[in-house]
Amino acid sequence: VKIPKPILVASADALCLELSGVLAGRRYLLLTDEQVSAHCLPFLSDVIADFPPLDIIEVEAGEVSKSPEVVMQLWSHLLELGVQRGDVLVCLGGGSVCDVGGFLAATFKRGIPVIFIPTTLLAMTDAAIGGKNGIDIDGVKNAVGTIRMPESILVYPGFCDSLAREEFASGYGEVVKHAILAGGPLFDEVGRQRVIPEKMKVSLLKRSIAVKYALVKTDPFEANERAKLNFGHTVGHALEAVLLAAGKPLPHGIAVAIGMQVELRLGLMLGMMEQQLEERLQLLLHTLFSWAYPVLPSWTELEVYISNDKKSGRSGIRLPIVESPGSVKLLDLRDLSKIQEAYNQGVSAQL
Ligand SMILES: NC(=O)c1ccc[n+]([C@@H]2O[C@H](COP(=O)([O-])OP(=O)(O)OC[C@H]3O[C@@H](n4cnc5c(N)ncnc54)[C@H](O)[C@@H]3O)[C@@H](O)[C@H]2O)c1
Repeated sequence: VKIPKPILVASADALCLELSGVLAGRRYLLLTDEQVSAHCLPFLSDVIADFPPLDIIEVEAGEVSKSPEVVMQLWSHLLELGVQRGDVLVCLGGGSVCDVGGFLAATFKRGIPVIFIPTTLLAMTDAAIGGKNGIDIDGVKNAVGTIRMPESILVYPGFCDSLAREEFASGYGEVVKHAILAGGPLFDEVGRQRVIPEKMKVSLLKRSIAVKYALVKTDPFEANERAKLNFGHTVGHALEAVLLAAGKPLPHGIAVAIGMQVELRLGLMLGMMEQQLEERLQLLLHTLFSWAYPVLPSWTELEVYISNDKKSGRSGIRLPIVESPGSVKLLDLRDLSKIQEAYNQGVSAQL
C-alpha cells in the first residue's frame, strides 16, 4: 500500500500551485465546514477560478459532522451530482472534515480518490496522515470507519494563524505526544517548553509529522507499532465522548493531554516508569495544557466508553505505556481496575 508523504508548502501561492497540479484535467468536489469555509477557502480562490469544482459542500463545524446522518446526506448528494469513480474529493478542514470526508471517499462507489488539505494543527500533524477515517455511532468515537490512504496531503502551516487558542493547543497536544514517543532531540526541544508557542515553528511541525509518518509507514494497518500512537487515547476518547454527550465538546488534543497524564500515572503504578521521570512529564503536560482542562467527569461516566474502545479485544485493552521518552511498550490490560485507579488518583490531584 502506498503511503503518501505530506507535502509541506511555504505559502498559499505554493499551495494553489500544488493543488492545481493534482487537479488538472480531473473533476473534483470540495468538502469543508462552515468555519473553515470562512477562514481558509479564500486562499484557494485562484484554483477555484481556474478549475471550478463540481460543488463546494459545507458541513457543520466540529465533531457533530462525523455522524451517519451526515454521511447519508453526502452519499445522496454525490449521487445527485453524478460523481463517478475517477472524480476526486478534496477535503479542506480539520480532523472532523478529514475523518468524515475520508470515510465518504472510501465508501462512495467503493472508493473515490481523496486529497486532504488540513487546516488545524491537529490535522496537519496527525489526523490527515495515515488513512484512518471514521464516524461516531451512539456517541462512541470512530466506531465505524476504514483505513484507506489519501492520494495526497498538502500542508500549509499558515492556516494555523486563524485557529482559536484552544484549537491550536489541541494540536500541540499531539505534537507533545509525538515528542514523547520519539524521545531524542525532538523531546529535548519540546520538553523544555513552559508555554505553548504562539506560532508553530515549521521545522518542529516537519519533525512532528515525520514521527507519525514513520510509524504509519512501518505498520499501516496497526498490527503493532502504529498502536503506540494511541498513547493517551483510551482515556482521551472516553473523555471526549462523555463531554460531547453533555454538550460541552472538548478539543481532541486536550482530551489526549489528560489521557496521557492518566496513562503516565498508570505506567508509574505498574512499575514501568521511574517516579522522577513521571513527575517531570506530568509537570510538562500540566504546565502546557491544564488551563484548557474541563471539570473531569466521574469514572462511572467514562467506563462504558472505555469498554467500547476499539483498542479493547478479548485479551483486554491494549495500551501504550511509556517507559521513558522514546521507549514505549504495548501492554494488554485484562481489567479496567488499574486504569480506574490511575484516573481517580489523577482527578484527586487535579492532574
Ligand atoms: N484519522 C485520524 O488518524 C485522526 C487522528 C487524530 C484525530 N482525529 C480526529 O480529528 C478530530 C479533531 O480534529 P480537529 O481538532 O482538527 O477538529 P475539527 O476539525 O473539529 O476543527 C476544530 C474547529 O476548528 C475550526 N477550524 C478548522 N480549521 C480552522 C482554521 N484554519 N481557522 C479557524 N478555524 C478553523 C473548525 O471549523 C472547528 O470548529 C476528532 O474527531 C478526532 O477523532 C483523527
